[in-house]
Amino acid sequence: MMERIAVVGSGYVGLVTGSCFAELGNKVICVDNDSAKIGALQKGKVPIYEPGLSALILKNVKAGRLSFSSDLRPAVRDSKVIFIAVGTPPRRRGEADLTAVENVSEEIARYMDSYRLIVEKSTVPIDTGTWVENTVKAFKKRNVSFDIASNPEFLREGTAIHDFMHPDRIVLGVGSDRARKILLKLYEPMKAPKLVTDVRSAELIKHASNSFLAMKISFINAVSRVCDLSGADVEKVAEGMGLDRRIGADFLKAGIGYGGFCFPKDLAAFIHICERLGYRPDILKAVVRVNEQQKKFFVETIKRRLWNLHSKSIAVLGLSFKPHTDDVRLSPAIDIVKMLRKEGASVRGFDPKAMEKARPELRGVCLCKDVYEAVRDADAVVIATDWPQFKKMDLRRVKALVKRPIIIDGRNMFDTARMKKMGFDYISIGRT
Ligand code: UGA
Repeated sequence: MMERIAVVGSGYVGLVTGSCFAELGNKVICVDNDSAKIGALQKGKVPIYEPGLSALILKNVKAGRLSFSSDLRPAVRDSKVIFIAVGTPPRRRGEADLTAVENVSEEIARYMDSYRLIVEKSTVPIDTGTWVENTVKAFKKRNVSFDIASNPEFLREGTAIHDFMHPDRIVLGVGSDRARKILLKLYEPMKAPKLVTDVRSAELIKHASNSFLAMKISFINAVSRVCDLSGADVEKVAEGMGLDRRIGADFLKAGIGYGGFCFPKDLAAFIHICERLGYRPDILKAVVRVNEQQKKFFVETIKRRLWNLHSKSIAVLGLSFKPHTDDVRLSPAIDIVKMLRKEGASVRGFDPKAMEKARPELRGVCLCKDVYEAVRDADAVVIATDWPQFKKMDLRRVKALVKRPIIIDGRNMFDTARMKKMGFDYISIGRT
């Protein structure tokens, strides 16, 4: 056994962090104040769909390296390193709500009886480290020492385990040599470059990285509009740009805009931080604006094809914010369904994994059992998430089922020439 670790907060980041550290041979206890969630996890039920996560959890529970608890006290008592991975949801003006981080810091402080390293894993605004430090100082026992560190997580939903185990880099924001040594040892099995910084820089690296990736997406979406207007092909333009190593080919896929619980929330928080610090973040605001415009433009495109949306039947394929996840939080697909409904269209939706999570968001929408049920008698088929199974759907069958063979593809999944040859009126993003 290498290290005793507690991970507080059993959401995406917490569960993946906990199970991966256990897999690396550490003894990990995952804590959450949602006792129903912990009860389910103790029975082997994982509350989120993430490829490979259930198996990894079961394996490590069986091996005695991973356990779950709704009680923070024994977790703090038995661990030297405590990761805080609780939620930091957005408030109305975009700033992150850090109540959970504060409460957890206070509780940890009360339960510590000897040195602990407290590590921020949640995405938090710059300065949170200082606040956690002050809170712990205020509530800890007199003779107990501790360190604070920031170790931002860069995993993506859908490929979370791979991303955790094989990251491009590991960022360790520390304020002491002791903290640096503990974290470097913890991450020793991983080959990725390790960047050791101060706590504030580590906090900022996470915000800056996510915002930069979102900027790449908004950039290519803006280019896609120019492609539409000029007859160029955005896929070719992106390929040509991406071959320049300074630009890189990733995150240049035009579509209906980014979504999920990370980019929109992190951008809003970063904008808020900049303004609080006295800087006007025009560039970040433009990224958000382009993203919002992209969804509206997509709905306009559907409208232009169908004239009136009122009482038209539209099949929407894909509801999650991206493939390989059941997460529908801030999903552009959901926004688009809502916009279509506002215009009076009736929507039939399908998603391979996200139906349950989408249901409460989409009252009044008929959720179908498969693609073919969704497209039956549709005036148009809209592709909103690039699930690989959509690529394999039987297009002939689709064509026979729909009322009109119009496909409006928000994820550029099909070859335009082939679709036209098959007799579809096929419209995609930035491609003629
Ligand atoms: C993102 C980052 O990629 C992770 O590095 C980070 O750790 C995470 O946020 C987080 O802060 O927790 P995630 O939100 O899971 O990860 O998903 P991404 O794969 O980044 O996709 C985000 C959105 O961008 C999706 O809606 C996706 O469809 C869209 N996207 C992505 C595009 O429209 N085009 C692209 O080229 C890439």
